[in-house]
Amino acid sequence: MSQYTRRNFLKGGAAVAGATLLPAARAQGARVKVGLMLPYTGTYAQLGVAIENGFRLALAEHGGKFGGREIEFYKVDDESDPGKAPENANKLVQRDKVDVLVGTVHSGVEMGIIKVVRESGTLHIIPNAGADAATGGMCAPNIFRTSFSNWQPPYPLGKILMDRGLKSAVFITWKYGAGEESLGGFRDGYSKAGGKIVKELFLPFPNVEFQALLTEIAAIKPDAVVCFFAGGGAAKFIRDYAAAGLKGKIPLFGAGFLTDGILDAVGDAAQGIETTLHYGDGIETKRNKDFRLAYAKTFLLQPDVYAVQGYDAGLLLAAGLAAVKGDINNKAGMIKAMEAARIDSPRGPWTMSKAHNPIQDIYLRRVVGKENKVIGVAHKALADPARGCKMV
Ligand code: PHB
Repeated sequence: MSQYTRRNFLKGGAAVAGATLLPAARAQGARVKVGLMLPYTGTYAQLGVAIENGFRLALAEHGGKFGGREIEFYKVDDESDPGKAPENANKLVQRDKVDVLVGTVHSGVEMGIIKVVRESGTLHIIPNAGADAATGGMCAPNIFRTSFSNWQPPYPLGKILMDRGLKSAVFITWKYGAGEESLGGFRDGYSKAGGKIVKELFLPFPNVEFQALLTEIAAIKPDAVVCFFAGGGAAKFIRDYAAAGLKGKIPLFGAGFLTDGILDAVGDAAQGIETTLHYGDGIETKRNKDFRLAYAKTFLLQPDVYAVQGYDAGLLLAAGLAAVKGDINNKAGMIKAMEAARIDSPRGPWTMSKAHNPIQDIYLRRVVGKENKVIGVAHKALADPARGCKMV
């Protein structure tokens, strides 16, 4: 833990202890309670840490206050375990009575959070989990997302493959919401462009025994392999793909999570992999460079897409609280401001769709050295279709 995080963590801990002594109706000037429900253990642990770091950086850049109010953090490690999700969400909502719940990474866990916040009406900001339903069939006025829908990043990939004459693809992923919906987004774009998915391969989350499936891919000999993997599992998949002799023979593509936050760990096996995502390390704007420098200085780590999404969750809450001058009880005012927010993100500016999901550019990136280099815009201002959302 860097000096910076340690200091804030301790501050947060002290605040938690003191909070239990406060009367139920909190005074106007009291701190705003933010619950962080993120994975701090397991294959997505680093993603959770990057999100929290990003959020704290946004807060630090606002002088430690949003809308004039200090923030008090409450944390739960959700372990990326969907079975514990409602109970974990309720620790923050019922027990700690947070004003805002920020979380999570895993789409299955996210579905549990949604159930809880739809009932309680708690303001909720999703800094990663792509579960399409969050801004689709289960959309709600109090639910906002600063990341993406699972459909979004892989949708533009289909046309890119077809433009290169790659007409058949195998899709491989973990069998859970994010993998299946990522496949759905890719399929929509690929079939529209005339491509054919010849085989869909699944393994249970977070299993990393890829060998048998890689042997199957070698036998099928598709024009391309497309995948959804993230975190520690993604690093293992990239290494195994190369070790199986497939690198250089069948090009590997994916939603950009595949190569985000893991390049230090993977090294050569990742070189040249192309992915589509709403962020790239090498976005050549002052905004992105300033962000990257500040993050690296503060946490002694390189930021990635997860850090950006956490940072933007902070910016969104800042916009909401500023509009109501810190009056967290003015929920309608906050929602209105958050809907209208134009987030000046390191990824590039973005706005909220009617379903509360970012309308954003999707970049084509290539791994060069330790960087996801942006080599083009795969789709300008892409909005999720928000299927089933009644607010649209
Ligand atoms: C998800 O479960 O929604 C998820 C997890 C990790 C990612 C992207 C999506 O990198």
